[in-house]
Amino acid sequence: MKFGDNFLEELKARVRPSDVVGRHVKLKRQGREFAGLSPFTNERTPSFFVNDEKGFYHCFSSGKHGDAISFLMEVEGLSFPEAVETLAGMAGMEMPKADPQAEARAARNKETISWMERAQEFFEKTLYRTDGAAARDYLTNRGLSKTAAKAFGMGFAPDNFSALKDELIAQGAMPAQLIEAGLLVEPEDRSRDPWDRFRDRIMFPIHDGRGRLVAFGGRAMAKDAKAKYLNSPETPIFQKSKLLYNYHRARRSFSDPQNSARGLIVAEGYMDVIALSRAGFTHAVAPMGTALTEDQLELLWRVGPEPILCFDGDKAGIRAAFRSIERALPLLKPGQSIRFAMLPDGQDPDDLIRASGPPAMQQVLDAAIPLVDMLWRREVEIERLDTPEAKAGLKSRLYKALEEIKHGDVQALYKTELLARFDAQFGWQANRGKRTGGKNTGEIKANKSMQIASAQKLASNMRAETTLMGAIIEFPELLERVDERLFELQFTHAACAAIQRGVLDWWRQTKAVEKTHLLTHIQEQGLEQDYRVLSRQRLLIRAGMGGTDATLDERAALWNAQADTLLGQNPHEADLNDTRARLVETISGDNSDGMHRAMRASKEARD
Ligand code: UTP
Ligand code: MN
Repeated sequence: MKFGDNFLEELKARVRPSDVVGRHVKLKRQGREFAGLSPFTNERTPSFFVNDEKGFYHCFSSGKHGDAISFLMEVEGLSFPEAVETLAGMAGMEMPKADPQAEARAARNKETISWMERAQEFFEKTLYRTDGAAARDYLTNRGLSKTAAKAFGMGFAPDNFSALKDELIAQGAMPAQLIEAGLLVEPEDRSRDPWDRFRDRIMFPIHDGRGRLVAFGGRAMAKDAKAKYLNSPETPIFQKSKLLYNYHRARRSFSDPQNSARGLIVAEGYMDVIALSRAGFTHAVAPMGTALTEDQLELLWRVGPEPILCFDGDKAGIRAAFRSIERALPLLKPGQSIRFAMLPDGQDPDDLIRASGPPAMQQVLDAAIPLVDMLWRREVEIERLDTPEAKAGLKSRLYKALEEIKHGDVQALYKTELLARFDAQFGWQANRGKRTGGKNTGEIKANKSMQIASAQKLASNMRAETTLMGAIIEFPELLERVDERLFELQFTHAACAAIQRGVLDWWRQTKAVEKTHLLTHIQEQGLEQDYRVLSRQRLLIRAGMGGTDATLDERAALWNAQADTLLGQNPHEADLNDTRARLVETISGDNSDGMHRAMRASKEARD
């Protein structure tokens, strides 16, 4: 719905931001403003201010700033129209009238929802009556307390074709309304009276983002039931691809400053969400029996930048994880990604928590792997990579995946990262079981002649040089692993050569790897200008070294692989080096823009 400016102005004039904020933050008046503890961070001294006259809040600890509407969007995870509607409710303002048709639809949906609520009351009541005994036992056996069942509004649909129907019709419902709500089923030819859809099932109420009851999921009690879980069909109030189970509670619990997670937890089933919640992971949600949709990913990102998707560690789970990569790639943005938590074989979060307790679950979450790792794994695991053709196949698959990433910077960084991994793992050096055995002289001679042959082209390989030298400044601890090789390298890039000399000088004196120390030395040597040339590429350099989470071993491997490439020691890479060298020659300057162009051109050259 679109709102007129007048309406929004009036709305903002009528509600005081401090009243809206006051629902979440304890505010204290300080002169013309109010102050309180930031709802966005876990601070101890108040740096969060609200100014009613100016109509905004400002949070010094997170840098967030906005008005009453954006506050509700941030803190309660509401969409814009939802926030407006909430405020209008607080201000006692009528929402602007939509067209009469939409109006009628809204009224009808409201009624449908109220029948859903009555149905929920009936299911819940039934669970605690005599005919709910077996269902109660079942829940007890699965370790679910009455408190938990109550908190999630669980109920039981009796094994009867008209129990719910009779109850709701007695309460005044028309059969058509109950059919529209998905509670009753009617044969298409209307040859029979409608009957209860859910029978002999444990009932899970499903809510939309605003917490309105819009659907049910029902788990069969009988082992031989046709479907273990049966969900409400698509109805005017329920589109299952646009909702997540437990989202309305999860986002509220996530916005609690005590919660230090980077995003919601996504499990596969209702029981998992409930088990997670009971184990203290109250920010858990689940799709309803389908792979995550784009809409659902957007819902997740509205709450936190890096939701964690839980999958079973078995084959099916891994396949499911791979599928969500496809959905996520086109939607990636700076600071917006997903992680994958792989559970031990055959277990879901509910099983794991029951068997090994919440700390085991925490461990699994802590070990969640970034999207880029999962993508790499997906492409590498497709086939055996023991022939040049297979390796080339891998490379073209990587390029294809990269094309899926719409955001330019994210795509460029993925490219650097994936190519570095490719070089490290499938480069010639990597395949020789290098540095374990000694080199024979024949090999060395071959290397030498190759080095001479390609020396000229490689001379202008700025990218590799910048990465190699820049990596040392970013991660000086690498020096302990690579010092000999570093000082053997003959850099042609002036800034790299200057920094190399500076580092060598410092390393000889100190043999310590303290970064600030190194930077001070560079400054003292008058190498600041050269340092700036390299540090402009910091992001790319870091990505080339496996990102911020890589271990020293991984970085050293990546560094060595990059050095191999620079030295042209990889015969499979010879063509690539030619291309790179040619391209680099055409690029003036060493800014990242030039680099992107090089990468694009290099890709075209290879395709
Ligand atoms: P699972 O089969 O993994 O079940 O389905 P679960 O959650 O572990 O259930 P329990 O522990 O056996 O009770 C995961 C989710 O897939 C959907 C449901 O949303 C379920 O929670 N599903 C599953 C269906 O929609 N239909 C089915 O027949 C099975
Ligand atoms: Mn389960």
